[in-house]
Amino acid sequence: MEILSGKIVAEAVKTQITADTILHKNNTGITPHLAAILIGNDGASETYVASKIKNCADVGFKSTLIRFDGDASQAAIEAAIVQLNNDTAVHGILVQLPLPKHINEQQIINLINPLKDVDGFHPISIGNMVLGNASFIPATPYGIMLMLKHYGIDTVGKHAVVIGRSNIVGRPMSILLSQATNPGNCTVTLCHSKTQNLKAICKEADIVIAALGIPGFLKADMVKEGAIIIDVGITRVADSSKKTGFAIKGDVDFDAVAPKASFITPVPGGVGLMTIAALLTNTLTAAKLAAQ
Ligand code: GUN
Repeated sequence: MEILSGKIVAEAVKTQITADTILHKNNTGITPHLAAILIGNDGASETYVASKIKNCADVGFKSTLIRFDGDASQAAIEAAIVQLNNDTAVHGILVQLPLPKHINEQQIINLINPLKDVDGFHPISIGNMVLGNASFIPATPYGIMLMLKHYGIDTVGKHAVVIGRSNIVGRPMSILLSQATNPGNCTVTLCHSKTQNLKAICKEADIVIAALGIPGFLKADMVKEGAIIIDVGITRVADSSKKTGFAIKGDVDFDAVAPKASFITPVPGGVGLMTIAALLTNTLTAAKLAAQ
């Protein structure tokens, strides 16, 4: 069993981005600039956005955080997006999800200039990705693809089972793995909460991507010997032994599943770090588009 280390791969990606950013600045005078919009004060969203901002600084990007109270109006958020769309010094725009219930999320996403859509959630970005001509790929599935590539994992002809059909992770992941790329070229089964015989389907999988958000869901008796296990879960679970009062738990029962796996991602230290690395990659791409 080999651990797929998000720490090692994300550092490698960040080192490359840092070097490319210096080159880009020298050649064009442009410093990549990410603008993040955070609405309300959900603890997990605060942590993710703070991490995104810090990582921008690590690789030499500029960043701007725009905050709104949890009761902000749809119009106020939309006005901020229009302003960022028009600001030529901003190359990437992301709106941290989930949004408060009174906000129409899709309407917000649709307003982002697709050339600045570094989250890859805009319908044009999704459409380009599905057609195999991606502009921006959603950060978590993109990060997983970068990780598989880094470790040289041969996915051709393998049966990949994706658990979870979210627009952010499961569905784009299933599309990317099905494409005629490397990694890719998988036979993909996309499972969800209405799937029957989930255990039997998982047991057939050469690759399992667990992205359903239920801590410890994937048990040892659900996986085949030698399977590749990718854990996307990042649920906060109360833990009084931690300074923060919580521990981060993945969707995989790691201790039981790891001995059966050929490769497995840990939580923390796995996919989460790759999500950030992929976001940085997309932001550099956006800055390069702006220089064309
Ligand atoms: N919430 C959970 N994951 C993500 C992500 O990748 N991007 C944004 N904007 N919000 C998220």
